[in-house]
Amino acid sequence: MSAQSTQQPSDVPSIDDWNRLLANKVAIVTGGGEGIGGAISRLFAVHGARVEIAEIDPERGARAVAEIEAAGGTARTHLVDVREAADVERFRAAVLEEHDHVDVLVNNVGDYRPIRPFKKSTPESWDAMYQINFLHVVRVTHAFLEPMIETGGGSIVNFHSVEGMRGYPVEPIYASMKAAVAQFTTCLAVEQGRNGIRVNGIGTDLCQTPQVDYRSGWEEHEDLWPSWAPVGRLGWPEEQARVALFLASDLSSYVTGHNIPVDGGTKAGGGWFFSPREGRFANRPRGL
Ligand SMILES: NC(=O)c1ccc[n+]([C@@H]2O[C@H](COP(=O)([O-])OP(=O)(O)OC[C@H]3O[C@@H](n4cnc5c(N)ncnc54)[C@H](O)[C@@H]3O)[C@@H](O)[C@H]2O)c1
Repeated sequence: MSAQSTQQPSDVPSIDDWNRLLANKVAIVTGGGEGIGGAISRLFAVHGARVEIAEIDPERGARAVAEIEAAGGTARTHLVDVREAADVERFRAAVLEEHDHVDVLVNNVGDYRPIRPFKKSTPESWDAMYQINFLHVVRVTHAFLEPMIETGGGSIVNFHSVEGMRGYPVEPIYASMKAAVAQFTTCLAVEQGRNGIRVNGIGTDLCQTPQVDYRSGWEEHEDLWPSWAPVGRLGWPEEQARVALFLASDLSSYVTGHNIPVDGGTKAGGGWFFSPREGRFANRPRGL
């Protein structure tokens, strides 16, 4: 079933339909070497996608490809800094030379560092946040949109953050760029729906990755998780990847223009804290 299908889906899908959700699809993953992107590359490959990774770190990219191939999947990695227009153009040419269709694009690259309170920010720091969190999403999408439309439609998944969906006092420019990704997602979905393109976003929070490392130096605070995240624990890249798989595949064939928090409930519970000691919620810090 393609994104443009007007056929009613079979109400009794075969096991093969749901076993390999991206069989024969070509899937692009930016930053697909490690962290959330790495988990997406691996999961998509397990589901039959031929994965094309755009990665700034060649070792991370090579490691992901080796793991995928060892598991019987197909992937290639390309040395790409998504902030560089020439790199993106080279990547686009390499993908289109190899494949006659492009089905899935995951814009995953982003970074909240270095953190600067707004008063201490500069035009240079604003530009850096713009480049690493928003501009490349537009650029890579622009590079692959036409090929996706021409070859039968597809699905775009944009990673942003829960910080783009709530007030984030720590780095307002970062959060604003993430909000821009979420809004771009919504707008493009409406613009491109009739061309067979679905566009959805994921607002991440609390996910253990190289960039957001909750483990190092936090071991002694493990007992804080129940009062911190509504699900009471840290999240993992694989849990982000499963939602990306849903959005990338025909499981979500009638879903477009949405931004889904994958955050263990932090957006839903924002401002409310569970106190294990008191056994109740409070909307102010009350200690353990
Ligand atoms: N981890 C979290 O809790 C969290 C929270 C909110 C939002 N996010 C968002 O989720 C996405 C993934 O985050 P992560 O924690 O997995 O990040 P990460 O830094 O751990 O991994 C990012 C991957 O992208 C690659 N990369 C970095 N810059 C690149 C560039 N310019 N060009 C190409 N590749 C590049 C890195 O080498 C790495 O493999 C980001 O957009 C991030 O802002 C993550």
